[in-house]
Amino acid sequence: MLEIKDSVAVITGGGGGIGLALAEYWLRHGGKVLIADVAEQYLQTAESHLKEWSANVRKIVCDVTNEEDCAKMADFAIEEYGAINLVAPFAGIIKDAMMLSPDASTGKVTRKMTLDQFQSVVNINLTGVFLTVRECAERMINNNCRGLICLISSTGSLGTAGQINYSSTKAAMSVFPKVVTAEFFRRGLADKIRCVAVAPGYVGTAMVKKIPPAALAKIVEQIPLGRLVEPEEVASLVGELYRNESLAGDVYFIHGGLRLGSKG
Ligand SMILES: NC(=O)c1ccc[n+]([C@@H]2O[C@H](COP(=O)([O-])OP(=O)(O)OC[C@H]3O[C@@H](n4cnc5c(N)ncnc54)[C@H](O)[C@@H]3O)[C@@H](O)[C@H]2O)c1
Repeated sequence: MLEIKDSVAVITGGGGGIGLALAEYWLRHGGKVLIADVAEQYLQTAESHLKEWSANVRKIVCDVTNEEDCAKMADFAIEEYGAINLVAPFAGIIKDAMMLSPDASTGKVTRKMTLDQFQSVVNINLTGVFLTVRECAERMINNNCRGLICLISSTGSLGTAGQINYSSTKAAMSVFPKVVTAEFFRRGLADKIRCVAVAPGYVGTAMVKKIPPAALAKIVEQIPLGRLVEPEEVASLVGELYRNESLAGDVYFIHGGLRLGSKG
């Protein structure tokens, strides 16, 4: 079992939502955090909130789609703390739209998901995770660190209408742990650096609270738990995945009992 106490977490998307909840959880258990986010203002607010728990908080502005930013973030963690033990690449966005929308009366397509809607989600949720993981794991290996890479997939990985961009990136997140674990196994690293993904359902963050209230109420009706998952509950799952070293190479769902499967 690993201890969170004194371990170092690098969290992208750490300025808000699940990333911020994880940072708070890490500090409450005696860990140290580097929060990274593209939004400087979110980072500042997050830092003042987190400093109420501990002085072991560092922040860095980082656009995860930028290779140099990701390298600087990983270097900064090593400079400040001498190690990286948890990599949580949680920065993510949604830009929902149907791929094609025909007009109800003419039957002809009048709207399409734009290339920008597709590519911007892929750039942040997929390429951004690749860069974060590659740069942080390189420093973990070179500095002989033990720990976990914990990605964030989603129940959307199973296929949600209106999210061909998002669902595709989250499906990729459920494959990454298998690839990384197999590669680290071949290189004799898998006993020291594990890789998993958590796959939340609907979590009560800004991302979900953007959904119009009537549509959100309909979603909540479908959740056996009767409410959204709390960001703190996802953070607690990450903590358990970190501690328990027999959990490796897989995806761990957390959704309050949602019926899983492809839905229209
Ligand atoms: N909220 C949910 O219901 C839910 C469910 C499943 C998975 N997830 C995943 O959890 C992760 C966090 O989501 P959340 O709900 O906390 O969202 P959120 O919108 O509350 O937070 C996301 C954070 O990512 C940051 N960010 C966006 N683009 C960035 C970039 N290019 N570089 C660095 N930071 C960037 C934002 O500034 C923001 O602080 C995402 O990957 C999301 O897909 C969320």
